[in-house]
Amino acid sequence: DASVAVILPAAGSGQRFGDQSNKLFAPLAGRPLWTHAAETLLRRDEVSCLWLAVSPGDREQLEEQAAMLSRPDKIHFVNGGAERSDSVAAALDAVAQAAEASIQWVAVHDAARPLLRAEDVSSVLACAAHTRAAILATPVTGTLKRGARDQSACQTLDRRGIWVAQTPQVFSLDLLRQAYASHRGRPATDDAELVERTGHPVALVAGAADNLKITYPEDLAVAEALLQSRTH
Ligand code: C5P
Repeated sequence: DASVAVILPAAGSGQRFGDQSNKLFAPLAGRPLWTHAAETLLRRDEVSCLWLAVSPGDREQLEEQAAMLSRPDKIHFVNGGAERSDSVAAALDAVAQAAEASIQWVAVHDAARPLLRAEDVSSVLACAAHTRAAILATPVTGTLKRGARDQSACQTLDRRGIWVAQTPQVFSLDLLRQAYASHRGRPATDDAELVERTGHPVALVAGAADNLKITYPEDLAVAEALLQSRTH
């Protein structure tokens, strides 16, 4: 049953990417970066709609590109906000207003994570169905240092039990609405943080380490190579 609304925050400025245009338009394996994960999610029967939170200046171009995907009928647009959480909040309001009674779940996925695997989507959706809140994440593999003002290492953190959060992050619609209603302008870098603040536990689902977020231009070459290795 089509019970999942996807929110794709795509309204970032991409300052660390350096380019003038939105990094989500950068070509990856011959098509715009953002369309990869969008296509993976649109193809699923559980997904009834996909809301893109966009910068007004990008909208026309994104609409044209969306028209070429497999299920343009499922795609909707909403203007994003100054912070990522403002963009998600705007899309969440739009999902609630569209009032499709069948929607029980919201999956938020960064448009800048093109390498999302279908099996990881299945895992996080299945977990959320039991826990109401589940996110993809990977255990930290590096050594963590706290840097002092002079950039000297002042502490080595115990990495046991530390995870790096990824997306999709899946919540029951009610729970995420409640989390956003009470967050009151304290921006968070992911949605799970707002749900954690309500006191509701968020399950960590071990995902593929290569579900990387494109942040710097050099990430694109890595993503390109990873995609190549999947098809050969
Ligand atoms: O900047 P960063 O890559 O961490 O952003 C993560 C995702 O959130 C990106 O897909 C970006 O487009 C989106 N975003 C947004 N609205 C903002 C800032 C970021 O939709 N104001």
